[in-house]
Amino acid sequence: MDTILSELRTYVRQKLEREGSGHDWHHIDRVVKQAKRIADEEKANTFICEVAALVHDLADDKVASSEQEGLSEVEALLYQLNAADREHVMEIITTISYKGGNRPPVKSLEAQVVQDADRLDAIGAIGIARTFVYAGSKGELIYDPSIEPRTNMTMDAYRNEQSTAINHFYEKLLKLKDLMNTETGKSLAEERHEFIQSFLSQFHGEWEGNR
Ligand code: ADP
Ligand code: NI
Repeated sequence: MDTILSELRTYVRQKLEREGSGHDWHHIDRVVKQAKRIADEEKANTFICEVAALVHDLADDKVASSEQEGLSEVEALLYQLNAADREHVMEIITTISYKGGNRPPVKSLEAQVVQDADRLDAIGAIGIARTFVYAGSKGELIYDPSIEPRTNMTMDAYRNEQSTAINHFYEKLLKLKDLMNTETGKSLAEERHEFIQSFLSQFHGEWEGNR
């Protein structure tokens, strides 16, 4: 098991080392650490959680040239796992992504754990940093008061319509606290949620010239 993990780590690290939209190797490494921590508390299968966290962004449309190609690549990477575990990991990584918020709740405890870990990395100080890196990588503005935050986006609108970094907080990040699956995830999300709220209030205060 240790060999599988270390091989996966080496592969994912070299693949995402220089990824420039906030889904780089350090994102994966943080998600792995939080996933193990939450899995421990929630008595989930830590091995499955660690494997899924390691590969969770390889098939993402932001990182892979196509989702299908990414999924085949991950499936091949997992050849050493037994069929049931491989299926479980594939199920986790195909269901945890936010994609505009229109997706059904994930099924297994391990999927809940990895989704919580990934979501924690989208909020708090790190979430703020990642949002601006992502927006920068797509050429989006920091903020434009004439562009309203969107509600009920389709996946296509979520990925392809023009928005701003600040709008992303209203379109997704502030919603994540109430979407956490596990008690451990919920409690870890609280401080990070408050931090982004306080960041936004400072931001708008400075924008209006009140601070
Ligand atoms: P998922 O794969 O779960 O759908 P996303 O791609 O939506 O995740 O988001 C991963 C991170 O990338 C977000 O938490 C955020 O920091 C950043 N991000 C994604 N979309 C945007 C956007 N439109 N503007 C700014 N940041 C974004
Ligand atoms: Ni991720």
